[in-house]
Amino acid sequence: MLAASAHIVIAGAGQAGGRAAEALRARGFQGGITMLGEEAHPPYERPQLSKDMLGTADKPVTFIKQARDWSSVLDVRLETGAPVADCDADRRTVTTADGRVFGFDRLLIATGTRPRRLDGLEGRGPKVQYLRNVEDALRFRKSIRDKSRIVIVGGGVIGLEAACAAAKHGCRTTVIENEPQLLARALPSLVSDIVADRHRSHGVDFIFGTTVTGATAGGVQLGNGAEIPADLILVGIGVEPVATVAERLGLLATAGIAVDACGRTAVPDVFCAGDAALQWSRCHGRDIRVETWANAQNQAIAVAGNMLGEQKDYVDPPWFWTDQYDLNIQVAGDMCDSDHIVRGEPASGRFSVIAMRGADLVGALSVNAAKDMAMLRRLLAANKRPARTDLESPAFDLRAALK
Ligand code: APR
Repeated sequence: MLAASAHIVIAGAGQAGGRAAEALRARGFQGGITMLGEEAHPPYERPQLSKDMLGTADKPVTFIKQARDWSSVLDVRLETGAPVADCDADRRTVTTADGRVFGFDRLLIATGTRPRRLDGLEGRGPKVQYLRNVEDALRFRKSIRDKSRIVIVGGGVIGLEAACAAAKHGCRTTVIENEPQLLARALPSLVSDIVADRHRSHGVDFIFGTTVTGATAGGVQLGNGAEIPADLILVGIGVEPVATVAERLGLLATAGIAVDACGRTAVPDVFCAGDAALQWSRCHGRDIRVETWANAQNQAIAVAGNMLGEQKDYVDPPWFWTDQYDLNIQVAGDMCDSDHIVRGEPASGRFSVIAMRGADLVGALSVNAAKDMAMLRRLLAANKRPARTDLESPAFDLRAALK
């Protein structure tokens, strides 16, 4: 255990930063903890921004803890509106944008990601919005209540959850996706097509294989030459790591901040967790960043333990869910570059898909089949290698593969 005289600085006050701070105290660390966040708010979980807050009238943001409770309950010094702008590995200090210097014995980088920007849209045409923080969610909620005509750039998680909300509010909604299918990073085309059809039945239009290249006075211009009328452009084309701290430490962080299985960066006593961390994934067979709620929580908790001297590898397979109207879709591991076994009947609206690479189970997906997914996640986490013939048999009980 790290000495009670030690000081831990957490750069970033999002979900990963907040969960790490809680975990440090839960494991008995009695030293100082300072958490420095860019936003004006205490830590909160981001799924609500594109889920509950858009679905329910006037639902306020839920914080992990109220600002005052970080100090009064957990003795954590939380500084909001205080992005870390510099870091000195030799002197073991971080400096916030307003010039305050904080010393550390251990540093956790939990600065997460920011939306990738689409340039050339701002100007005299439609408003341009992104969906990453509380203010963005409130702004977008107001826009969909105003029944704006909306063009959404990107048919990924954010774009599609925003499209659900916009369609439910009666907005004329068009999604522009430059790949030939939706959620190509996570879903096989069988499932993307079901999602697209569900959206179409709620009035959402899709244009694939092109992007928005500019704004006109009354709408957007597409790469294929078409023009679409719009009052608002919502851009959801993925995220990129916020890597200022890592770069100041001399770490190359274009694809993410590289960490080992314990969450250690290449700089002694500097760790990283959450969306920005680039870590080996067995399912993917390569280093990846995992931009999910589950990772922001569980990786942060694991890395907090390792900051105190535990030596436990964090190996949870990635997992996320999205609700698209009446479809609950969950994805675990990696569905790309693999053979797929479908269990259940897609036409029934309830089925799962298992991804195999050779004899290895590498991914799973469920549509309205959460119980199957619970079992499949356990199989993935335990690195089980069930026989393909078993998985292909509708009568095979997945629980048997756990034994
Ligand atoms: N024009 C149109 N589509 C694009 C463009 C572009 N210029 N660039 C990328 N896309 C598409 C991608 O093909 C993909 O389908 O945008 C989509 C982005 O999807 P995600 O990678 O899921 O990113 P996003 O939806 O922005 O969500 C960001 O927030 O909710 C979290 O964890 C979630 O990782 C996700 C993150």
